[in-house]
Amino acid sequence: MITLLAMPTPYKPQTLERLLQSQGFGSRKACRLLVESGRVTINGERYLQANTLFTPPTLTFNVNGEDWPWRQYLYLALYKPAGFECSRTPQHHNSVFGLLPPHFVERGIQPVGRLDADTTGLLLLTDDGDFNHAMASPKRHVPKTYQIQARHTVSDEQIVALLAGVQLHDEPAPLAALAAEKQSDTVLELTIDQGKYHQVKRMLAAAGNRVDGLHRLAIGTLRLGEGCLAGLAEGHWCELDATALHQLGYTAV
Ligand code: URA
Repeated sequence: MITLLAMPTPYKPQTLERLLQSQGFGSRKACRLLVESGRVTINGERYLQANTLFTPPTLTFNVNGEDWPWRQYLYLALYKPAGFECSRTPQHHNSVFGLLPPHFVERGIQPVGRLDADTTGLLLLTDDGDFNHAMASPKRHVPKTYQIQARHTVSDEQIVALLAGVQLHDEPAPLAALAAEKQSDTVLELTIDQGKYHQVKRMLAAAGNRVDGLHRLAIGTLRLGEGCLAGLAEGHWCELDATALHQLGYTAV
């Protein structure tokens, strides 16, 4: 369990243009113009003066007809589809950032670890650097569970090898799975607590099989299809609620 306690932040009054800028709606000048053109309401009221003062946290902006609650930090879950790279400057595919509202991207949101372009499933994104570090750090041992479609029948020997540890090229020591459960002849659920490059694909290859399809089911106890992730469709995102953050060992302020 990660113990990461965010420090309470004393909220101070800020101008509307600065608040909008902090939420990713563009430069201060762009936010000023947005307000002055009448395209912003706060908590249901329209303000045309960009220097009007407001105090977070209980603010909901409506910008161009859409409601966005003020957030000090964003914590998102994305159900990543295949064919998307976890990079802002993708080489061969689309970017997962294209699946998010542009102002989230403008805020500097980053993926918590990466999934390969052909991997589907649960991807967390945040602009809270401490949270990102805590979740992605190998020292924290946050378990990640994958469903693997294997090329060949998964043998008992392969399961034993994955649980005992397989030696990967360029790794100083063998890497062992925390759990490996066969779901069918060629489907395996594997839990690991490291996040090395192409780790699952390389581990399965080292055990004598091959990954044909990879899907991340869960990070810690946060699982696609359950809790606040119930009903999250492929290609869609949702905000993690306080319960989900707590499940990840994070206490939101
Ligand atoms: N391991 C892999 O090989 N690929 C991923 O996308 C995630 C884990």
